[in-house]
Amino acid sequence: MTAPKKLFIKTYGCQMNVYDSERMAEALGGQGYIETQSAEDADMILLNTCHIREKAAEKVYSELGRFRGLKAANPDLKIGVAGCVAQAEGEEIMRRQPLVDLVVGPQSYHRLPEMEAKTRAGEKALDTDFPEEDKFEKLKARPKAKRGPTAFLTVQEGCDKFCAFCVVPYTRGAEVSRPVDRILTEARDLVERGVREITLLGQNVNAYHGAGPDGDWSLARLIWALNDVDGLERIRFTTSHPNDMADDLIEAHADCPKLMPYLHLPVQSGSDRILKRMNRSHTAESYLRLIERLRAARPDLHMSGDFIVGFPEETEQDFQDTLALVEAVQYGSAFSFKYSTRPGTPAAERPQVDEAEKDDRLQRLQALLTRQQRALQDAMVGREVGVLFEKPGRLPGQMVGKSDYLHAVHVDSDVVVPGDLARVRILSSGPNSLAGEVLPR
Ligand code: SAH
Ligand code: SF4
Ligand code: F3S
Repeated sequence: MTAPKKLFIKTYGCQMNVYDSERMAEALGGQGYIETQSAEDADMILLNTCHIREKAAEKVYSELGRFRGLKAANPDLKIGVAGCVAQAEGEEIMRRQPLVDLVVGPQSYHRLPEMEAKTRAGEKALDTDFPEEDKFEKLKARPKAKRGPTAFLTVQEGCDKFCAFCVVPYTRGAEVSRPVDRILTEARDLVERGVREITLLGQNVNAYHGAGPDGDWSLARLIWALNDVDGLERIRFTTSHPNDMADDLIEAHADCPKLMPYLHLPVQSGSDRILKRMNRSHTAESYLRLIERLRAARPDLHMSGDFIVGFPEETEQDFQDTLALVEAVQYGSAFSFKYSTRPGTPAAERPQVDEAEKDDRLQRLQALLTRQQRALQDAMVGREVGVLFEKPGRLPGQMVGKSDYLHAVHVDSDVVVPGDLARVRILSSGPNSLAGEVLPR
């Protein structure tokens, strides 16, 4: 028997890339690859790239350049670029960096095994098509490897919304939903392998409309079907668009026992003028009303969001509107970014806000968001919450997991093991996590 080949994957960007990297590792597992944590002893290096930040492609090129020495030392080493930069740059990558053997876009991962074989035959392999078939169906997993307690499951991919700042519609293509039966089969398989919490993924996950046994299903219906999967304890989903928050999904937050009280619902700005220029097709007011309805359904819902400051033509008044919206919502967590131009998107051509001004606004926004985040976290002290334990903590005898609200919680206890879902009384709140004690059943 030949020694297994080693695969090193470096993943950038969103959770969908994390999920895709797992699938790629499984697909190449069928070709005799096992994963390694170091690029140095790899037979194949895959960079799973993200295109959401400024100069994303440039960073990939400089990262690739660093593999020159490794390739000189090991002529059999194959280097591949996957993900959203691969989709955006395509063939250009091999032209600019001849070290690269393989370029594969996010819609073509099921073709990796043939592509790998091609590189072994000394050829270059490129695929950035948007094919019709379900790539995940073709990416058959290896038999029943044990998994940790939490997993991502992609249910929907791509986006038709074309926000003026965003590359995702170009790199991930049009919106596509996976059929219900495939998702349920994958979910049951994950549970058999030890998973107790599933996060459903999609660039616009709440626009899900996959084919079910009796016509298209909504995301809420899919969640209800997952609620019936024995052994699955928790369901989450991300990322949602405010305009796709259907009534049945809001209601599920009130009634569905396994759906967790945490919702990531990006708003980007609190100024209607800017929202319009962003092509977001919702207003600050409609967003706030939506959150009112969600909180009526689930009063303890923790809200999370994404913000962009310094979008072209954003004034101090527009920014003040964003701060006012944040004050009104009270976020449990949030991600905020300075606007950065993405070539090919409409906003890239518009008059840009001064960089120092962007820095200043980002600082002020983050200060407010951090205060809110900390206040909500501190308010957990004294309360009892469910915690799904994931792994040992930094200190001996410590176990860390996530609360229903997605707070990191550690306990000084040897009464729980990874995969246990326990009731925990929160005793204290630190900068990034809570500490508590496990309650008897
Ligand atoms: N589908 C999700 C988000 C996808 S991208 C949604 O519709 O909300 C993740 C986040 O990156 C976005 O919410 C946005 O806040 C940020 N982002 C995207 N493009 C950006 C850009 N050009 N500059 C700064 N931030 C950006
Ligand atoms: Fe990008 Fe999200 Fe807008 Fe789609 S909805 S274009 S993924 S920010
Ligand atoms: Fe980045 Fe592509 Fe995800 S651009 S955020 S890896 S969809």
